[in-house]
Amino acid sequence: MQGYTTLYTLSNLPTAYFFVGAGFLWLVFRFFSQKNLRHIPTAGGPPLPIVSYIGLYNFWTNGTQILQHAYRQHKGRAFKVPMVDRWLVVLPGKQLVDDIQRLPDDTVDPAIMEFFGVHHMLGVDWHDDPLYMPIVRKLTRNTELVFPDMVDEIVVTCRELIPAKNDEWHPVHLYPAMHMLVARASNRVFVGFPMCRQGGYVDMMAHFADDMVQAITTLSIVPDFMRGFVARKVTVMDQRIQLCLEYLQATIDDRKAMMARFGKDWTDKPNDMIQWVIDETMARKRGDDEIARLVLFINGSAIATTAHHLIEAVYDICVRPDLADMLREEVEAAVAEDGWTRAAMAKMRKLDSFLRESVRLHGTATLTMFRNILKPVTLSDGTFIPAGTTISAPTLATHFDEDNYPDAVQFDALRFYKSGDKVQQQLPTTTADYLTFGHGKYACPGRFFAQNELKAMMAHMLVHYDIRSACEGVRPADVHRGFSVHPDMDARVLFRKRKVDFD
Ligand SMILES: *[C@@H]1O[C@H](CO)[C@@H](O)[C@H](O)[C@H]1NC(C)=O
Ligand SMILES: *[C@@H]1O[C@H](CO)[C@@H](O)[C@H](O)[C@H]1NC(C)=O
Repeated sequence: MQGYTTLYTLSNLPTAYFFVGAGFLWLVFRFFSQKNLRHIPTAGGPPLPIVSYIGLYNFWTNGTQILQHAYRQHKGRAFKVPMVDRWLVVLPGKQLVDDIQRLPDDTVDPAIMEFFGVHHMLGVDWHDDPLYMPIVRKLTRNTELVFPDMVDEIVVTCRELIPAKNDEWHPVHLYPAMHMLVARASNRVFVGFPMCRQGGYVDMMAHFADDMVQAITTLSIVPDFMRGFVARKVTVMDQRIQLCLEYLQATIDDRKAMMARFGKDWTDKPNDMIQWVIDETMARKRGDDEIARLVLFINGSAIATTAHHLIEAVYDICVRPDLADMLREEVEAAVAEDGWTRAAMAKMRKLDSFLRESVRLHGTATLTMFRNILKPVTLSDGTFIPAGTTISAPTLATHFDEDNYPDAVQFDALRFYKSGDKVQQQLPTTTADYLTFGHGKYACPGRFFAQNELKAMMAHMLVHYDIRSACEGVRPADVHRGFSVHPDMDARVLFRKRKVDFD
């Protein structure tokens, strides 16, 4: 098997100079062709193109504070921040978020794939036919069905990854451990047993998310017209797709042979993700490599984000033993009634509120709801947005707004549990002031599945372990880069096995 070496160097210098030169000219052109954004104030640096590279550097090193500051300064009014190849117009406040949500389809386009160069990375354009959507919807609908398998995988995996004993605190390097836990629990559902435990396969899946982030980072400093080439030649995406296909090929061949043989009469046709992926790709007459791309894409998106939220939640619990006791009590009561089922998860309202609060303060990014404007629009605050502009909404600044959340910077685990609403806002509920999963039509489709997965993993760990920060009382801190947020990747968390009366 190939190692995870990456080829980030352009091998020959004249070629590199050529691309750097061409890229620079292109960027000058892009910024000048966007001069019609002058009426929108700039945050974090000078408002001129090229000089805006100072702003870009500021934003890379200090993006969270710049957004926070601009949010307060321009409250409710649009401002812009420099990206490598364009201005990004940021729309703060509930009113503007609702504006984004209400823009008609012929005016606005989800920009996340284009903005991050995902289509270049995977070598496909799913923009007009997002075929992963029906697959993720099937996953949501079938959560109940797949839940017991997922719980089984969580139990087995935790036993391996957290080999703590009674009366003894055992340090666990949380970042890789939780990635592995999420990769295995997810892939038990995605591809089934025994594939989900095959070292190479799971390793690849767990790493693919990182590969994707690296590729995104590489592509983000490369002009659009060169991204296809760079994605093929410089990043490891194509190798990953081939490797994934090698792992899956036997399963794919089996399934396709059965489908050819029995057609509609295949009565015990498996109801799992790999089958849904095969169905969607065959309906479109796509090759097997498309199956690998889809699997990798869904896995990559699901594992990186779910692991992020899980790690942050463990960091939050490891410095709050009283909270852990309270949540554990709720989990034990629910499991005593309903066993380890989805019905029990639904009863864990305090746990849900705790997770929602952790996600509110420690999301994956400080910006969300990326959209490309196709036709000029004027927003409700009077701001004119020309066609060709990329817009987004600030996540963390919205979540830190005292008007939205009293004592906004304080961690309050039961904030959503005790909120006066008749119906408790659950983890996947998006609102104009809760934006981690986006909001409106293009909100993250996997968030319902992630809710159950996160609850099952946290509930299991709470019942089976005492959890403590390796650095007494200190919560490992997040790292902010540009608009992305990463949990501490080095921190150890201490686990001690609890005596459990029931299972
Ligand atoms: C970060 O940005 C804020 C807001 O613009 C500014 O006040 C602060 O001085 C900046 N910090 C650094 C280290 O640049
Ligand atoms: C995730 O990984 C597994 C293992 O290869 C794969 O079978 C599955 O299809 C992937 N995800 C999806 C959505 O299929």
